[in-house]
Amino acid sequence: MSNHQHDKTILITGATGYIGRRLVHRLLAGDRYRLRLFVRNSRKVMASVADRVEIHEGAIGDVDALEQALSGVDTAFYLIHSMGSGHDYRELDRAAAETFRRACIAAGVLRIVYLGGLGVKDSASEHLLSRIETGEVLSAEPEKIRTIWLRAGVIVGSGSASFEIVRNLCQKLPLMLTPRWVRTKTEAIGIEDVLSYLEQSIELECGENLVVDVGSGAITFQGMMSGAAEVMGLRRRLIPVPVLSPRLSSYWLILFTPVPYRIASALVEGLKSETVRANDNAARFYPDIEPVSYRDSVAHALRELERDQILSRWCDSSSGEACDIKDFEDPAGAVLRDTRYVAYAGGRTQDQVFQSVCSLGGENGWFRYNFLWRLRGAIDKLSGGYGLSRGRRDSDELRIGDALDFWKVADIKPGKRLLLYAQMKLPGQAWLEFDVQAEQLVQTAHFIPHGILGRLYWYAVLPIHHLVFSNLAKTLVNQAQENRGESPGD
Ligand SMILES: NC(=O)c1ccc[n+]([C@@H]2O[C@H](COP(=O)([O-])OP(=O)(O)OC[C@H]3O[C@@H](n4cnc5c(N)ncnc54)[C@H](OP(=O)(O)O)[C@@H]3O)[C@@H](O)[C@H]2O)c1
Repeated sequence: MSNHQHDKTILITGATGYIGRRLVHRLLAGDRYRLRLFVRNSRKVMASVADRVEIHEGAIGDVDALEQALSGVDTAFYLIHSMGSGHDYRELDRAAAETFRRACIAAGVLRIVYLGGLGVKDSASEHLLSRIETGEVLSAEPEKIRTIWLRAGVIVGSGSASFEIVRNLCQKLPLMLTPRWVRTKTEAIGIEDVLSYLEQSIELECGENLVVDVGSGAITFQGMMSGAAEVMGLRRRLIPVPVLSPRLSSYWLILFTPVPYRIASALVEGLKSETVRANDNAARFYPDIEPVSYRDSVAHALRELERDQILSRWCDSSSGEACDIKDFEDPAGAVLRDTRYVAYAGGRTQDQVFQSVCSLGGENGWFRYNFLWRLRGAIDKLSGGYGLSRGRRDSDELRIGDALDFWKVADIKPGKRLLLYAQMKLPGQAWLEFDVQAEQLVQTAHFIPHGILGRLYWYAVLPIHHLVFSNLAKTLVNQAQENRGESPGD
């Protein structure tokens, strides 16, 4: 941790999510506060961050862990939602917010800062309703704790879900049929401005609870599409159609963009009614923040993408099902396995082989049988999974929790082990493990089948596994040979 004297202790929940990760970096850069992170899995915090913060592990319902994390805290950021946790997520979100507010009051926390979504209750989608209810629960005892509730519409930043949807549609489709919801007004705001509002909320002087609607001006999804196309130098034609049901629109989005149905339908449902600012508290209470225009925030996000500087992505957070899995980081319970051993010599080092393993997927692809991986990705996408479209956050670096095509990084031991957990639609649970030993690479596909169907699946794909996995292990080792000249240790 830094040696500076810090007079305030700040707790950030959701610190491994899209907003949370970026807020942590922003506050660390300012070096004004003692930072404490409350996370479900401390290994998801990057080593460079972990050295400079205090980490408390726990889920929001874990009252003991929460009480400990909140002790001595001045301001607590609430950047959590349970949308990936199944149908009862609204109920879960209400209960979590209630637990959090009570724990904050008991610990003597002075202020809660929450970021939710814009919208009014009467016409809000299920997701927005849950965001509004969370804000109401957090603000429910103003006499005991102050709450600053920021409300944003579409957040534009590299890796944000809405930006990825707009970018992919613009890049892939020269002509688009546009249903009615694309002409509904919403508000867009750049991620850097959102972070400024969050940061300034720590010191903001306000005598009562505050709801602050933020944005850079009303815009429609159609406006976002044409604005982004212009920034990218693309000519795109948008043809209005009177009908295209929200469900069909969502399927359309999942085919052409990396987001799954859950997120696509939340966006479409959210845009069925207007979500614009309802107060001018942003200008009144944060006069020195002037949000950049939509086009500038798109340009900024594109620059980050080009430079491979994506701090966080919409898919960083573990989906509910992945989190609920016991021993997610340990495939020891697998009953079916495919193991490949490839010895390496010829001057290759363990680090070079590990580096080769860590460059898998995304734009780097899956080698000779890439077309089979792509076919599997297409099948996954059509069955409602992620497919390969999430790619990777960074072309060289991986961290625990990163999405990598249809995998999630479950464990990394630098120079030694990479464990990927399968998030594709499967009749079972699967992992792909790379164990880089002193003289050989051991690559194992682990599978826990769900019933007969799971076993049938495994045996049906055995011939394909044989081709794909043996080529994968060999090519990873050979590629380490090619990279030899570039390695600093060489
Ligand atoms: N991103 C946007 O475009 C956007 C736009 C408007 C408003 N917002 C608001 O900003 C807030 C943060 O959103 P986000 O996009 O950063 O979400 P996100 O990327 O999905 O991250 C959610 C975070 O919450 C954590 N979490 C979920 N359930 C938890 C639990 N029971 N206990 C402890 N931690 C839990 C997750 O931990 P794991 O990593 O362990 O899963 C993750 O760190 C939300 O209130 C959202 O409504 C976001």
